[in-house]
Amino acid sequence: MPRRFPGGKLVLASHNAGKLREIRELLASFKANVVSAGELGLPEPEETGLSFIANAELKALAASLGANVIALADDSGLAVDALNGAPGIYSARWAGPTKDFDLAMRKIQNAMGDNPDRNAQFICALSLSWPDGHCETFEGKVEGTLTFPPRGPHGFGYDPIFIPTGFDITFGEMDPAKKHDMSHRADAFRRLVAACFS
Ligand code: IMP
Repeated sequence: MPRRFPGGKLVLASHNAGKLREIRELLASFKANVVSAGELGLPEPEETGLSFIANAELKALAASLGANVIALADDSGLAVDALNGAPGIYSARWAGPTKDFDLAMRKIQNAMGDNPDRNAQFICALSLSWPDGHCETFEGKVEGTLTFPPRGPHGFGYDPIFIPTGFDITFGEMDPAKKHDMSHRADAFRRLVAACFS
């Protein structure tokens, strides 16, 4: 039996403004008093895990053990088939210390060259953790293809090069509410809600 969220304070263990916005919107209809790790002055742990799940758990546990609260963390990224799953868990790091995603998208374009396989997935692990060290963790994904140059003003990170399967626009061109319905984060969130919030 998964452990359920009892209501009350929930810390979002992320310092990424784009993710915080999306997770707050996903949580809007639940009885949670949401605060971010940044608002509590919690440090960002180093992401030493070798999978999305390991990193999500490491981030959620650092916040829940550090602040004695229930915490939710997201670890996510873009996995490109032609690059054997890269940048994967290193998606944020490909943008360098200045978080330059134009640079990161160009690096992907260069690494892919003229490889005809344009398939990619966005993957998201969400981990809910308690101060006693218990975690409930769920993974979601969305399939698509990559396009260059980047297109669209919405979203964040790699959204402007990702066309979800069945569409002809990128996540960067898509109405944010529509992205939130079908994204990797929404998929992981649905699994989390079914197990821990319903
Ligand atoms: P991390 O989970 O903090 O390691 O960072 C994940 C990185 O993956 C983000 O900085 C983005 O570059 C990328 N990423 C994750 N989710 C999305 C998304 O929904 N759209 C675009 N990029 C994303």
